[in-house]
Amino acid sequence: MDTLRIAVTGGAGFIGSHLVRRLVEMGFAVTVLDNLSTGSLRNINDVLRDINFVRGDVTNLDDVEKAISNSDVVVHLAALIDVGESVEKPELYFDVNVRGTFNIARASRKADALIFASSSAVYGEPIKIPISEDHPLSPRSPYAASKMAGEAYVNCFAEINGYRPVVLRLFNVYGPKQSRAYSGVIVEFIKKALRGEPPVIFGDGEQIRDFIHVSDVVKAVINAITNSSVTGTFNIGSGEGVTINKLALLVAEIAGRRELRPIYSLPRKGDIRVSIADVTKARRELGFNPAVSLEDGLRELVKYYSAHGFQVI
Ligand SMILES: NC(=O)c1ccc[n+]([C@@H]2O[C@H](COP(=O)([O-])OP(=O)(O)OC[C@H]3O[C@@H](n4cnc5c(N)ncnc54)[C@H](O)[C@@H]3O)[C@@H](O)[C@H]2O)c1
Repeated sequence: MDTLRIAVTGGAGFIGSHLVRRLVEMGFAVTVLDNLSTGSLRNINDVLRDINFVRGDVTNLDDVEKAISNSDVVVHLAALIDVGESVEKPELYFDVNVRGTFNIARASRKADALIFASSSAVYGEPIKIPISEDHPLSPRSPYAASKMAGEAYVNCFAEINGYRPVVLRLFNVYGPKQSRAYSGVIVEFIKKALRGEPPVIFGDGEQIRDFIHVSDVVKAVINAITNSSVTGTFNIGSGEGVTINKLALLVAEIAGRRELRPIYSLPRKGDIRVSIADVTKARRELGFNPAVSLEDGLRELVKYYSAHGFQVI
């Protein structure tokens, strides 16, 4: 059997670099398309010789054609991901996330499958918890709207190009190498704890989030690549919610800094109150089985940042 050719956009980023490493280990022929705007070659240094790296932009159709037109499977992760920035720069988010996904979907003519990283942000403030895939969509930021539009293009070009569409709605992903573009609350808490500073919590800290370790996200993507009967939209989360107060306490305990009491600041505009994934469908159809508990993931991450520091990538 010929080696499967897999193109990963955004492969130099946080999730992409973990995925690319695993794909190389599994013996696939990997091409990465990345403009290195928020990602870095440092993230994939150890596998750079084993992959075809294309420095290019998803908004440029020539770059896209060059990188993905001969791929069997395309995994589209490249995006701008900062919700706050998307409010300030909605055109930029439209160009990269909507036009970029449109280009990828259109150019995936020979691909058997296109796997797209969408976001739980498409649900907005949920009316039902846990959130299943058939929950109404109510994007509250240009970022969320761009992901919703991206899903529509991925699904509509599946009809035209004949590939198998897989949309993964990722909840809050965490783990080593998280990008500086949106390092997320976990990295912020660890940073503060390791510096001996108290965590800053926006609002009352009772907002609930669903954190999923990057290694579990990588497994979901691998399952979507290798199981040719998988198609459709899937929530990728842990299925468990934790309050930001509890998270702050956990990080402080693991870092050995229990005495650091949180500082409470004004709630952030548009912050969602509760977000917990219903992952029943992903378990059943994708064979998704999140394995890393939040406590284990945090322990590993505190160790990682203690060893590596927080140098900007
Ligand atoms: N991290 C999370 O918690 C999370 C949650 C939901 C969805 N997602 C989605 O997962 C995907 C990956 O996110 P991440 O956390 O790894 O982000 P990241 O910022 O670390 O990675 C994004 C990568 O895309 C590249 N990129 C950005 N604009 C590009 C362009 N115009 N052309 C080519 N490459 C470009 C960046 O250089 C970077 O390497 C994104 O689509 C994001 O929306 C992430």
